[in-house]
Amino acid sequence: MDKFTIEHGLDLSGNIYVSGAKNAILPSMAACLLAPGKSILRNVPNLIDLKTMAHLLRVIGARVEYGEGFMSIDSKDVCYPEAPYELVSKMRASIYVLGPLVARLGKARVSFPGGCAIGTRPVDLHLKALEALGATIEIEHGYINAKADKLVAADIYFEKSSVGATINTLMAAVYAEGTTRLYNAAMEPEVDSTIDMLNKMGAKITGKGSTTLEIEGVKDLFPVEMPMIPDRIEAGTFLIAGALSQNPITVCGCNPEHLTALLDKLRETGCKLDILGADITITPPETIKSTNILTLPHPGFPTDLQAQFTVLMCMAEGISTVEDTIFPDRFMHVAELSRLQADIRMERNIAIIKGVKDLSGAEVMATDLRASAALVLAGMAAKGTTTVSRIYHIDRGYDRIEEKLNSIGAKIRREIG
Ligand code: UD1
Repeated sequence: MDKFTIEHGLDLSGNIYVSGAKNAILPSMAACLLAPGKSILRNVPNLIDLKTMAHLLRVIGARVEYGEGFMSIDSKDVCYPEAPYELVSKMRASIYVLGPLVARLGKARVSFPGGCAIGTRPVDLHLKALEALGATIEIEHGYINAKADKLVAADIYFEKSSVGATINTLMAAVYAEGTTRLYNAAMEPEVDSTIDMLNKMGAKITGKGSTTLEIEGVKDLFPVEMPMIPDRIEAGTFLIAGALSQNPITVCGCNPEHLTALLDKLRETGCKLDILGADITITPPETIKSTNILTLPHPGFPTDLQAQFTVLMCMAEGISTVEDTIFPDRFMHVAELSRLQADIRMERNIAIIKGVKDLSGAEVMATDLRASAALVLAGMAAKGTTTVSRIYHIDRGYDRIEEKLNSIGAKIRREIG
């Protein structure tokens, strides 16, 4: 298994470039199942999760080509509506094929996703919404069996704001007869980008950017060519690297509107931010000030940046708190950061962090995607050498993170194992 060896180094400078958003590309790939023919996605980075999704679409019968910066998906011959356990257990986002398969083929068999390192992650909201649209759902032998002769519009209220359930329901409702209304829908940029893609395919969805969405069912959808939005979590990770740095860096090719909560918090820590179109230059303060974080649905502070921000607070003056209301168990990185001599105490789903002058390099283990990004940042900040093992987690969602960070002055070596 590959690992990173990271030497202390915060003498960063220059430009670092943001790739396309994994969490927007995954549902866009599933959406291609809705329109027979060849769709093309642009601005697609090289990520393990996208390879897993491409594999799944091929199993279902699509022809997928994954090249440098693009993916083409021809879903003309989609005929085998099943997402097997070995793929769903690798990547929960496989559940995104459920809505499109039921909408297009009238049936789907998708392995029930289990828990994962960031806690239990149910799919009850996905299933309830599909049932409301007229599908029958049975859970049998670890699989979700969904069937519908035809889907019919419904008014659906989500008890919790869920990115996945909102997107899955949108993808099913595009073919439902009548007008579906979704209340308390998620407003994450990845939901908006899926709406843009579906509308370009011929769907009629209104309400984008709000918690109430209206979907007027249509009879046909058509293949499209679509650029993917920049990855706000990758951009946020790089901005946090900039906050830890000794010099300004510029994060290029992001959408600052997607990053408001993080940018506000970075300003509270004393960072100066200069935004010029899609580029953000971050100038770190002499001393990082502590601040408190509460993760919330968009436009609140994203749970996917919680671990990385925790590292910044480890290096801040004073005491700060980081509370995760979305995934309360998402604190596996805390034990690893403690190995680097961070001073963090947990109280339920709140990390109480006392800033330290220095972290101290050690061997640590990545537990999940965003926790591994946090450990890379911590390794750059720690005195001496840090080794991060199990970095396949990071390759799921970051395209060559070590090359990108090294291009601005980090000292990270990948050891192929
Ligand atoms: C997506 C992102 C993930 C991010 C998360 C929250 C992808 C591939 N993943 O995950 O990186 O951390 O949004 O921004 O885009 N819930 C239920 N029942 C359900 C579905 C969700 O109770 O049926 C709960 C979850 O346990 C969680 C909350 O709702 O507490 C939000 O989860 P959700 O927005 O659905 O996360 P994902 O779509 O799985």
